[in-house]
Amino acid sequence: MAILVTGGAGYIGSHTCIELLNAGYEIVVLDYFLNSKPEVINTIKEITQSAFKFYTIDLLDKNSLDKVFLENDIEAVIHFAALKAVGESSYNPLEYYHNNITSTLILCEKMRKYNVKNLVFSSSATVYGVPERCPISEDSPLKAKNPYGRTKLMIEEILQDLYASDKEWSICILRYFNPIGAHQSGLLGEDPNGIPNNLMPYITQVAIGKLKKLNVFGNQYPTNDGTGVRDYIHVVDLAVGHLKALERITFSTGVEVYNLGTGKGYSVLEMITAFEKASGKKIPYKIVESRPGDVAVCYADPEKAEKSLGWTATKGIDEMCKDAWRWQSLNPNGYEKNQERESPYCIPSEDFLIGNK
Ligand code: UFG
Repeated sequence: MAILVTGGAGYIGSHTCIELLNAGYEIVVLDYFLNSKPEVINTIKEITQSAFKFYTIDLLDKNSLDKVFLENDIEAVIHFAALKAVGESSYNPLEYYHNNITSTLILCEKMRKYNVKNLVFSSSATVYGVPERCPISEDSPLKAKNPYGRTKLMIEEILQDLYASDKEWSICILRYFNPIGAHQSGLLGEDPNGIPNNLMPYITQVAIGKLKKLNVFGNQYPTNDGTGVRDYIHVVDLAVGHLKALERITFSTGVEVYNLGTGKGYSVLEMITAFEKASGKKIPYKIVESRPGDVAVCYADPEKAEKSLGWTATKGIDEMCKDAWRWQSLNPNGYEKNQERESPYCIPSEDFLIGNK
């Protein structure tokens, strides 16, 4: 029995594949590399020294998924594949709605067809919009403020309807807070296309000298130092949360929603200080206008995941910053190039080459 991972070459997907393989799961991975790199597949194999099947598949291509379900004994699906840039989603709403929602509909149709009714879905804290209070619990009001967030919210509702129509489904919806950091090997991390939108990759690119200085978006928020506060969570902690969710859905039915966050908030200035300490690099910054759509404070109440899944974030802000910096400093250009890096792991063999094995 295998776990199907859609978007397994992405930032969170790839780290989750590693945890799954290390825990002994058989996995089948799909990606279309819209926002990720093929090198990641080899890197996962290199780090884990494990083989798995990989398919280059666009979930919007209705027929391509049949092959995957027919060729493999799939037990559950972890669905990461999606477009994810908040700003871009406002310029290209149709692409976001079509890509994120239609692909999920197609995936669920195929799951129903092949009687695979266990699903873990990647949602986001963005579904809470401007939170009424922090920490944010799962039963807080939902009101996403941009097309990206609305795709996540609409899919959550679709999944609730799906379960209401057929009680054999077992669905876990995971609302991520702000994932940062990288695999401790330094071989796998976040590699955004173009200039990063998110804080941590922007900071690491300033530290490596690719960007001149960080623009801090606003210092007039009602927070300790006036800058925005977020719940940063190590991507490996987040990945482990998916394994806990998987254990959960394989022995019960229903739809459950969990926040995956640490429950602690850090301001932008606190993040700069933490990163400077972890990396020994100075991060020049300038306070600029606040970014439209940003909220002042957003951090999770992670108690439900703790109690029901037995999951809790274990890695603190120093480790997050250290790992982010290790990844960036070993890979100044992300996945483009890695020939010159010295791998702490052995050289991949023929078996580890990418392809539909
Ligand atoms: N920030 C800056 N300068 C930058 C980038 C960000 O000051 O160059 C600030 C933001 O204003 C905010 C904080 O850093 O206060 C974090 O911003 P990010 O862009 O890193 O993250 P967001 O909280 O805005 O959004 C992220 C993801 C969303 C997801 C959300 C969940 O991008 O997809 O977390 O909470 F929905």
